[in-house]
Amino acid sequence: MSFPYQIQSFDHYLTEYKKSIDHPEKFWGEVAEHFVWKKKWDKVLEWNFKEPRVRWFEGAKLNITENCLDRHLADKADQPAIIWEPNDPTLPNRILNYRDLHGEVCRFVEVLKNNGVKKGDRVCIYMPMVPELAIAVLSCARMGAIHSVVFGGFSAQSIADRIEDAQCRIVITADGGNRGPKDIPLKATIDEALTKTSRIQKVIVFKHLGNTVNMQAGRDVWWQDEAKKITSTDSRAESMDAEDILFILYTSGSTGKPKGVVHTCAGYMIYTTYTFVNVFQYKPGDIYFCTADVGWITGHSYTIYGPLSAGATTVMFEGIPTYPDAGRFWNIIDKYGVNIFYTAPTAIRSLMGFGTDPLKDKKLESLRVLGTVGEPINVEAWHWYDEHIGRGRCPIVDTWWQTETAGIMISNLAGISQGKPSYATLPLPGVIPLLVDEKGLPVAGSDAGKDGVFHPGAKGEPVSGNLCIRFPWPSIIRTTYGDHERCRLNYFATYPDLYFTGDGAFRDAEGNYRITGRVDDVLNVSGHRIGTAEVENAINMYPDVVESAVVGYPHDIKGQGIYAYVILQSGHANQGGEKEGVSKMVNKVIGAIAKPDKIQFVSGLPKTRSGKIMRRILRKIAEGEMDNLGDISTLTDPGVVEEIKAGRL
Ligand code: WT7
Repeated sequence: MSFPYQIQSFDHYLTEYKKSIDHPEKFWGEVAEHFVWKKKWDKVLEWNFKEPRVRWFEGAKLNITENCLDRHLADKADQPAIIWEPNDPTLPNRILNYRDLHGEVCRFVEVLKNNGVKKGDRVCIYMPMVPELAIAVLSCARMGAIHSVVFGGFSAQSIADRIEDAQCRIVITADGGNRGPKDIPLKATIDEALTKTSRIQKVIVFKHLGNTVNMQAGRDVWWQDEAKKITSTDSRAESMDAEDILFILYTSGSTGKPKGVVHTCAGYMIYTTYTFVNVFQYKPGDIYFCTADVGWITGHSYTIYGPLSAGATTVMFEGIPTYPDAGRFWNIIDKYGVNIFYTAPTAIRSLMGFGTDPLKDKKLESLRVLGTVGEPINVEAWHWYDEHIGRGRCPIVDTWWQTETAGIMISNLAGISQGKPSYATLPLPGVIPLLVDEKGLPVAGSDAGKDGVFHPGAKGEPVSGNLCIRFPWPSIIRTTYGDHERCRLNYFATYPDLYFTGDGAFRDAEGNYRITGRVDDVLNVSGHRIGTAEVENAINMYPDVVESAVVGYPHDIKGQGIYAYVILQSGHANQGGEKEGVSKMVNKVIGAIAKPDKIQFVSGLPKTRSGKIMRRILRKIAEGEMDNLGDISTLTDPGVVEEIKAGRL
């Protein structure tokens, strides 16, 4: 058997789950035996959620790229590791087998070293979806530098903030990237970002589009020129401690600027590989296609690390689902014989809108497993995916997880456990979900077991609550970079001894979880996580703005749309292009993904006597639930509610 830890049946899942809960150290220790270590661990797990402090595989030495690359050279050197599909389907694709990828990574490690990068340095990566993005990420990991990938849609200001927070000294970028009909001027955005921070000493630029870019002498070098200089490589991978930082990835919270979520080497490797193999039921030889950009956690864990560690062939697609037409994903599936396809509900909903015409000449026969991630999938989209893409014969895994969890936490296992439309269903082995009320008490009826935990396979009453996790899994967030207290406050302080996810959930009588969405001020727009406070801060930077409040509302394609209520100094009409101005400001400060869908100018905001904005009311109005606003008598100016209702967009 290729993966001794691969779950074979539902009963097997139940016994593995039980073992993982009763004897977590034994369970994960046994999984870890099937990986390559430079030195084995002294202790599998040490933890407390108070500080918090979580250490997995303490004492072990490893390099994750030896698992992702070197160990496959013996039997998979000629097997494609990465199949790259360009944005423009008429251009040649690229296929890197494991030997090629290993060689490219070893070479780029030398480039990084030649450019002054040392173990422990933070490296900002701002690249399009090209194989060099994976090469850059893996090269950092191989030499022990910490990568901080910034999604190509973020603004210069966002990049500068992230560079400052992580104290990066080097940036890896490209001249530009393609997304559908658009050219994305990545290098120009980096140039602008570097006017806002002076930390960066070197910029390595991959020539991808061949467009003219400004190269600053002494600072900027071409990837290709640097790579040519390397005549021999030291193929040894740096020896890393299990708990050394592998990467930082910034994500939005309910307050302040995005925080740098920190993941470490060993636990991340074990958990992403374990979940990849089990959730998708990966079989050697499968062609796997995850559509997520590497700028997000899904791209880290399930485009690069998980699949490569399992020795899979991973498809990397540069473009968008609707270019040159809405059949693009399906063409790629047929072109490469994709067996496992993993995408976001927002993509499915947007493609549904084109009807079945783009599917007419598509075979889709190679597909065996479908997956979704990033946001709740509505029942209608689930059925469309099942019927038109899976042709009724492919299990759909609805995978719930987060940047902070780094790997899939709640999901059915393809063909092993039953899917249920709009339900993520059951926890992975090692994951102990707990639904709690506002006070942190397990919700009534949730206690199927003596320990207050509902075990898969048990029967209970349907309940709802705030979703927490009671025990550490190997890839749990370790800290928020440079500010451990923020990590504690955000995730471990709401409910003592629990990790709080920020999500609400419903559990049915069979123990299946249905994620109902965020219960904090975090929005999920097209599967992208955006903090309302961040958007408000950006809006407030527009000169004429006095105050603003941002809420989410249901959006047919994006899942959630962004609704902004804005008070202007000059009154509340859109006389001088203020709407465009506010929108442009958000684009400039955060990036296009955070631009409000609706901007309503108002003369005041509903506030309590203590000056707190009543978001609940604003949310209800944005959702169109005007008759059901609850008690508004405690507001300082109840009249403003009528005005806002009347002006609703
Ligand atoms: C938030 C995390 C998971 C990687 C991509 C997003 C929502 C995620 C699901 C799902 C319902 C989901 C949650 C979560 N979410 N997956 N299958 N069903 N909601 O990672 O940007 O860290 O966002 O996405 O609200 O908290 P992220």
